[in-house]
Amino acid sequence: MLAEAVAPAGAAGALVPTPYVVVERREEAADVVTLAIEPTEGSAPTFRHGQFNMVTSFGRGEVAVSMSSAPGAPGPVEHSIRRVGAVTAALCAAPVGSFVGIRGPFGTSWGVDEVEDGVDVVVMAGGIGLAPLRGAVRDLVARQQAGRGRVFVLAGARSPDQILFDEDLRAWERAGVHVGVSVDVGAPGWTGVVGVVTALLPGAPFEAAGALALLCGPEIMMRFGGRALVDRGVDAGRVRVSLERNMQCGVGLCGHCQLGPLLVCRDGPVVRYGGLADELFMERYR
Ligand SMILES: Cc1cc2nc3c(=O)[nH]c(=O)nc-3n(C[C@H](O)[C@H](O)[C@H](O)COP(=O)(O)OP(=O)(O)OC[C@H]3O[C@@H](n4cnc5c(N)ncnc54)[C@H](O)[C@@H]3O)c2cc1C
Ligand code: FES
Repeated sequence: MLAEAVAPAGAAGALVPTPYVVVERREEAADVVTLAIEPTEGSAPTFRHGQFNMVTSFGRGEVAVSMSSAPGAPGPVEHSIRRVGAVTAALCAAPVGSFVGIRGPFGTSWGVDEVEDGVDVVVMAGGIGLAPLRGAVRDLVARQQAGRGRVFVLAGARSPDQILFDEDLRAWERAGVHVGVSVDVGAPGWTGVVGVVTALLPGAPFEAAGALALLCGPEIMMRFGGRALVDRGVDAGRVRVSLERNMQCGVGLCGHCQLGPLLVCRDGPVVRYGGLADELFMERYR
């Protein structure tokens, strides 16, 4: 396990949804929407990079969604949601002024606050996997600007119109960060890399010794990405992945999110790739 799960702010936040109002809604791609939300009373609890909330669409259901804004950033908390089924569709359609319910924050963190000065951090994301990493990257960009260590962002998307957080990617690049973007399938006018996100690794001049790597995306991407990073010389114990499982309680009570010996809501979602996660991935893809 990477770190102890951080307890939610209070019992009510853990088991009973708190009402939040949607104050901004942004379309990031055809099927991805970012909702900026604020509690109807008081202030939102603090959270750590990589944690998630259980988000309720009243009358439809509740799903796990990571925070896509940075902890402690001014303004509302953001969640970026891909429409895949009934609940995410309802959340993506939630207009400004409507209400959602929030339980959380839950789970383990990327741990970027504890990263040692001087080491390179490699962030590898596939599709919506950039959302749970976005807040961490924002703070890692500030860390690089403060001269405390570089960050390398490698992002993959299915096609050019599916590239998420385009403005952020450009801003990070302007700030001097190495940003690589690949697409599975090109389109007219696309002159960038076509291929899986691991195709971006050879062009990323990070120092593998001591590096920390953070991966989020489809499990097959994390499996091959983790292995490629280890082959490049990154210590497997310093590669972290964010696991996704069907969640219900979010607090380690129902067992819906079990993966081998892990309850992903409690022991994850962020875990070390080296060792257990690697073995669990191998088992699933054998
Ligand atoms: C810790 C964690 C963080 C997450 N963060 C985000 C996020 O930041 N943004 C985001 O868009 N989504 C995120 N998800 C995934 C999100 O919870 C699911 O997409 C959602 O539960 C689907 O619910 P639905 O009712 O819309 O679709 P359903 O009808 O429940 O499912 C539609 C399809 O999605 C698949 N699916 C459902 N849940 C999951 C899941 N947990 N993992 C993989 N496939 C699933 C189903 O098998 C089905 O094929 C996260 C999940 C976890 C566990
Ligand atoms: S979601 Fe209930 S135990 Fe993890």
